[in-house]
Amino acid sequence: MNTPHEMPRGTVALVGAGPGDPDLLTVKALRCLGKADAVAYDALIPAAILDLAPAGAMMVAVGRRDGCGATPWRVHPKVVDLARAGLFVVRLKCGDPMIFGRGGEEAEALAELGIPFELVPGVTAAAGAGACGFSLTHREDAACVTFVTGHDVADARSDPARWRALAQAGGTLALYMAGRRVARNAQRLVQAGMKPSIPAACVAAAGRPEERVVTGSLETIERLSRDLDPGQPVLMLVGAIVARRDRLMHLIASNKTQPLPACDEFVFTHDAQTGC
Ligand SMILES: C[S@@+](CC[C@H](N)C(=O)[O-])C[C@H]1O[C@@H](n2cnc3c(N)ncnc32)[C@H](O)[C@@H]1O
Repeated sequence: MNTPHEMPRGTVALVGAGPGDPDLLTVKALRCLGKADAVAYDALIPAAILDLAPAGAMMVAVGRRDGCGATPWRVHPKVVDLARAGLFVVRLKCGDPMIFGRGGEEAEALAELGIPFELVPGVTAAAGAGACGFSLTHREDAACVTFVTGHDVADARSDPARWRALAQAGGTLALYMAGRRVARNAQRLVQAGMKPSIPAACVAAAGRPEERVVTGSLETIERLSRDLDPGQPVLMLVGAIVARRDRLMHLIASNKTQPLPACDEFVFTHDAQTGC
């Protein structure tokens, strides 16, 4: 395994920056950043992480918010130029580069161009949300977790059959890129056969000082999450584990065994009718 100091110049490290808390960077990601000649970063990377690059490193913004929409390249031309100029380039991506991060496309493009690269995993947003108390595969509630894009585009991903498959998947659904599409996603899942009372949550800016968690049901989540900052990344979680997390928060609050997570707004939305 390469470590950053062994990496030949002219190499690109595709590095996962995690959900945004610098303490959630891997040791390897931190080492890569510390050795970077240039850092090419996405829009979601907070300054607290960018500040970990050496003072003299070239900092280049190359991202597009949400990773959506078309670009004429798979790897940004600046990344190619910098690597070809012999620099050690850290291509910094939020979460994990290989989960809705286009890391695979960049790796393929770099390989085609003959530019050496290394992949450095990061904590993906759904795992980051775990730190807010969501046990994505709690033994009693979810035998599986499905990572899915909540971005509604006019292709196979908006196909009703796909939503039916998701509704039937069971377990936990983690919808990435859900921010402006909470209502649409909830509606699609209900149309696809999920009960409106199924617990649902929005986790905004997990692992950052601005973190907020809102919980409710497929029926209520859009209304409850309306005042989330639209500038923050939002992950939507659907499934019984959301209600379990509410119970955990109540236990913590009632037993006063530990302070509530600083992150948490603790918007508890118990629905007397559904019990969720
Ligand atoms: C283009 S995807 C990148 C996902 C990333 N590669 C990962 O593994 O987490 C961007 C989406 O990830 C989710 N996301 C990323 N960071 C987040 C955070 N700190 N809190 C909540 N959701 C986050 C949001 O759904 C956001 O719209």
